[in-house]
Amino acid sequence: MCAGCHYGAGARIATYVGAQCREVARERNRRHTRRRRIMLRDCCDELDQELQCGIVVSATLVNMEKFFATCPRGLELALVDELRLLNAQDIHAVGGGVRFAGEFFLCYRVNLASRLASRILWQVAADPYRTEDDVFRSVYRLPWTKWFDPRCTIRVDVSATKSPLASLNFVTLKIKDAVCDKIRRLSGRRPDVDTRAPDVPIQGHLTDRDFTLYLDTTGEPLFKRGQRVATGEAPLRENLAAGILRLAGWAPGVPLLDPMCGSGTILLEAANMALDIAPGLGRGFAFEKLKNFDARHWRELLRQATARQKPKKPAAIYGSDRSADVLKAARENLLAAGLEKVVSLKRADVLEITAPAKQGIIVTNPPYGVRLGEQQALAEFYPKLGDLLKKQFSGWRAYLLSADMRLPKLIHLAVSKRIPLYNGALECRLFEYKMVEGGMRKKDRLV
Ligand SMILES: C[S@@+](CC[C@H](N)C(=O)[O-])C[C@H]1O[C@@H](n2cnc3c(N)ncnc32)[C@H](O)[C@@H]1O
Repeated sequence: MCAGCHYGAGARIATYVGAQCREVARERNRRHTRRRRIMLRDCCDELDQELQCGIVVSATLVNMEKFFATCPRGLELALVDELRLLNAQDIHAVGGGVRFAGEFFLCYRVNLASRLASRILWQVAADPYRTEDDVFRSVYRLPWTKWFDPRCTIRVDVSATKSPLASLNFVTLKIKDAVCDKIRRLSGRRPDVDTRAPDVPIQGHLTDRDFTLYLDTTGEPLFKRGQRVATGEAPLRENLAAGILRLAGWAPGVPLLDPMCGSGTILLEAANMALDIAPGLGRGFAFEKLKNFDARHWRELLRQATARQKPKKPAAIYGSDRSADVLKAARENLLAAGLEKVVSLKRADVLEITAPAKQGIIVTNPPYGVRLGEQQALAEFYPKLGDLLKKQFSGWRAYLLSADMRLPKLIHLAVSKRIPLYNGALECRLFEYKMVEGGMRKKDRLV
């Protein structure tokens, strides 16, 4: 439990976590005669008492909350950068997400502004466990009625890595029972379970010895921006598309082309970034159902985000696809988002296009096939795509997201970077190609 000491800005604010830190607290308070703010949390009640017994001048409880932002695997470091810009503290990337801390309102800002996260989870418990009963006790002791009204519906999900417990379903049931039993004891009413659209989604996570419980402040995952009304073949998730743009180093103003744009997910994300449109502006969040919801603060954040938006005028963002049907879906999506003027769309076979600007960035995910016929067709397509890039796009950089590990060999271009990414459960690579005139061709060697 004890994570050591974290010193805030200029070491003026110190967070002491757990018994291990008492010595540090004593030492600091011996050295400082002036009144100091000391943030105490988690297992620090004991420390609080001890501090009040005279060693410390003053101890103030300051609300610093812990959060976990989930994201597609491979985007963790990009998400760290995004969270830093949103003023998150104590940021640590782990597989599939990023831990961070901050005042509670930080979760409003991150839900509203993060383009890469999938969910923002608020940590409400973290305890060691051995059995399902330990988990039950850990959940039961929490002040559930302080957080939400018993009329709210709940849903419990549990994930685990190396847990010794035999059944995740059983732990899930135990957590649900602990929440409902406690709420009934305190309020006389048992909350209902709604597995489809719960008011308060609850998530548990088990490692080999620790149990962590979160309230999901997001609800519908963040990649559901409420903008896409139509989809084509294998559409990307919005946060993955935004993450690819970040990994490609694309910034508004740089010409961008998706020549196999499908329903236009990459183009939509780029247009939203170019106009500084917060991705969470058009949807609701689970934190609005919590008792501590501060509607005024939230309205103010929405007002500020809306005021930051830039006027909708044509940007150097280009998309094309050979399929009339998916292009229609892309048009509908842009129209629904009010971004039809920002992006230029046209129907074209990628093998016949020319560059829309002297330099720029291509970001695309080419078709991916698993059946034999599709595999053969792609084996013929990749070298032609390589030729096209070489001939028409010198001066450009291209980023191709693909689960087809034959692509770098068959495209016959030298790959300068390959970044592992997951599109859902599908393991992919983002291949980077820098098209330099005359210098790109790779003589059929393996890369
Ligand atoms: C995997 S999908 C792209 C999905 C897209 N990123 C989205 O989020 O909707 C691949 C797209 O490539 C297009 N495509 C395949 N071969 C093409 C070609 N030769 N020229 C242009 N587009 C092509 C398909 O029509 C399909 O829309």
